Amino acid sequence: MAQIIAILGNKGGTGKTTNAHLLCYGLGLLGTHSVCLLTDTHREPLDKHGRNYLPMDARTPAQLAALVKKLGVVDGWLGVLDGGANHPERDLALAQHAALVILPFRESHEDIRTVITDLERLPKAVALPSQWPTNTWQREAANRSVASQMAKYRARMLEPLNAISASKLLLQHNFPDSIPTPLRNAARRFAAQVLDRLRVHYEAFELEPEDGSVAAAPSTPPEPPPNLALAPG
Ligand SMILES: Nc1ncnc2c1ncn2[C@@H]1O[C@H](COP(=O)(O)OP(=O)(O)OP(=O)(O)O)[C@@H](O)[C@H]1O
Ligand SMILES: [Mg+2]
Repeated sequence: MAQIIAILGNKGGTGKTTNAHLLCYGLGLLGTHSVCLLTDTHREPLDKHGRNYLPMDARTPAQLAALVKKLGVVDGWLGVLDGGANHPERDLALAQHAALVILPFRESHEDIRTVITDLERLPKAVALPSQWPTNTWQREAANRSVASQMAKYRARMLEPLNAISASKLLLQHNFPDSIPTPLRNAARRFAAQVLDRLRVHYEAFELEPEDGSVAAAPSTPPEPPPNLALAPG
């Protein structure tokens, strides 16, 4: 049975949309098919060409219900749901569809305060330190903040995702011809953590050497099986 991962959170700009696409891209690199479900009415669907996953429009309750139902009957596909900010009641409802809820947050006090409230409200949720500083001093300070303020939730934390300016490439309407290696590796590591949490098997993989080379992006999205006849977003 297909499983749904919901990327939610009440705070704006934490990286929900970016991380939904990063996760789907990483799942594709690890050989897992996924659908990225857009539920945020403030965003437009992205073009599927060149992506290794399928972006789908689920902005109306009817579209979302239909997609969740179809995903429930196909094997081997994951649904990754991109929520919108400031919809705590809708987040609760979306979380009910999900096998795992991911709450990205940045290192600010405001983000940490909000993610703690969301962790309390959403028992299936894990927190994802996102846009994490790569500068050693700032990173240690951010890790210390989290260790002291979120000690109670240690078992519900994913590994931090670094700030990578290239991550905005994933949200271009047309997928770029190439994706920098550090972003591809971040996508793989993120996807592997999520599959571990879901206890979904994947083939062992190696990270690409990060020597500044830029790898070519895959060019064909996966073909949905006939019983997942989805209208691409
Ligand atoms: N890992 C990252 N590294 C660098 N910048 C990032 C990263 N993740 C997200 N960003 C940037 O942070 C900003 C907010 O990201 P995004 O739109 O994904 O957040 P969101 O939570 O979906 O926002 P909203 O609440 O408005 O839906 C964007 O400018 C995006 O490019
Ligand atoms: Mg968003």
